[in-house]
Amino acid sequence: MKIELKKWTPDLAEGLIKVCNNTDRTYLTDRLPNPYTDECAKQWLENIVAVHDGKDGLFRAIVADGAVVGNITVEGKTGIYCKDAEIGYILHKDHCGKGIATEATRLIVKEAFETLDIVKLTSEVFAPNKASARVLEKNGFVLEGVLRKAACKNGELFDLLRFGKLK
Ligand SMILES: CC(C)(COP(=O)(O)OP(=O)(O)OC[C@H]1O[C@@H](n2cnc3c(N)ncnc32)[C@H](O)[C@@H]1OP(=O)(O)O)[C@@H](O)C(=O)NCCC(=O)NCCS
Repeated sequence: MKIELKKWTPDLAEGLIKVCNNTDRTYLTDRLPNPYTDECAKQWLENIVAVHDGKDGLFRAIVADGAVVGNITVEGKTGIYCKDAEIGYILHKDHCGKGIATEATRLIVKEAFETLDIVKLTSEVFAPNKASARVLEKNGFVLEGVLRKAACKNGELFDLLRFGKLK
């Protein structure tokens, strides 16, 4: 399978909407609108991607054998955290378990360290999200700490695993 990252452009919006409406949200924050509409895609492409891509962030479609199957992002932080950036990814549920997120993470980590003014990448993962933790570990991220009962989703408390990778 050929895995590539492509810059998000308006012609890929349909793929973005499909991914966002068909990803497993169990261990996601509530930042991703639900349902994810045409207007959500338009706003995100115009107000986030167009403004930040290549400057203090990277926003990429995950493309497998020519089809959009996921979204992967690196978002720069601000203030004293300005040399750190947050990595995040989601896949369409039909495409999980095939090594796609691991390869997409490898690609975006390389690009982020080569092109952004950062020294570190971080991610906070819901403790039961074993697949996501594995994706990070397989890309050389290390567990830096456990943020105990840091997230509350649908009334349930979760520990967050904080992973980091230095340039
Ligand atoms: C997390 C996610 C991106 C992983 O994508 P993926 O392409 O399926 O991941 P990969 O196939 O590259 O790798 C998954 C790894 O996790 C492992 N894994 C998957 N489910 C697991 C489980 N329940 N317990 C333990 N390991 C698990 C796989 O075996 C694999 O590791 P291995 O290669 O050592 O065997 C995908 O499941 C997803 O989109 N989830 C919903 C959104 C989300 O949670 N995003 C992350 C927020 S931090």
